[in-house]
Amino acid sequence: MKILIIGATSAIAMEVAKLYASDGAELFLIARNDTRLDALKADLVVRGAGRVAAAVADLSDCTKHDALLAEAEHALGPIDIVLIAHGTLSDQAKCQQSFAATAVEFQTNFLSIVSLLTLLANRFEARRAGTIAVISSVAGDRGRQSNYVYGAAKGAISIFLEGLRNRLHHAGVHVVTIKPGFVDTPMTQNIKKGSTFRATNRRCSRYRGCNPLTP
Ligand SMILES: NC(=O)c1ccc[n+]([C@@H]2O[C@H](COP(=O)([O-])OP(=O)(O)OC[C@H]3O[C@@H](n4cnc5c(N)ncnc54)[C@H](OP(=O)(O)O)[C@@H]3O)[C@@H](O)[C@H]2O)c1
Repeated sequence: MKILIIGATSAIAMEVAKLYASDGAELFLIARNDTRLDALKADLVVRGAGRVAAAVADLSDCTKHDALLAEAEHALGPIDIVLIAHGTLSDQAKCQQSFAATAVEFQTNFLSIVSLLTLLANRFEARRAGTIAVISSVAGDRGRQSNYVYGAAKGAISIFLEGLRNRLHHAGVHVVTIKPGFVDTPMTQNIKKGSTFRATNRRCSRYRGCNPLTP
């Protein structure tokens, strides 16, 4: 399998990458922190990845997306699965005071993903194969006073994916919307712990063998 992971140093994405690596997959990773990216690459090789290549990028800069995808395709050849995982948990109080802060959150959590999906959809549609998966959130299912900026961006991406799934179904391309609940990762480190619904990221490994992204 040839796997592209965008936002690869996300805690959730790293657990997914480890599962693919142990199956011998070839991976291309994109993330903005080169130190953590290098550490992840080394770890995935040790775990059995067939090959690991990577690129460093701030994914909010959509002007770089086309070149990044071309680099990934050059390294891997035709990509079987893309996972888009990057995101930020918006500072709701700050966004309430500043449209500029809200726009930055929408750039990261919605528009940058739409940019990537536009490019990926046309490539996968032409090849008539592949799976595109994006981590959205249950926070996008309804607006809450505590996080409606983050939730609105996630809700928008879920709706976008729903339409894209219907479009690409005709080309045999799978579009997967992943909607986790609360997961204990760096993103949620400042949220009060103890939620009944909180999951640890390590539980990923229990699902080995029933990977929903594998066609
Ligand atoms: N944790 C939860 O409870 C939860 C629940 C539902 C959905 N999600 C979603 O799951 C996904 C992964 O989150 P996580 O929980 O694994 O948190 P995480 O470990 O904090 O991962 C978020 C990742 O996004 C990257 N990122 C943010 N902005 C970026 C940018 N402009 N360019 C490149 N990378 C950028 C961060 O990079 P740096 O490390 O360099 O900052 C980080 O690696 C996110 O889309 C999140 O919204 C999480």
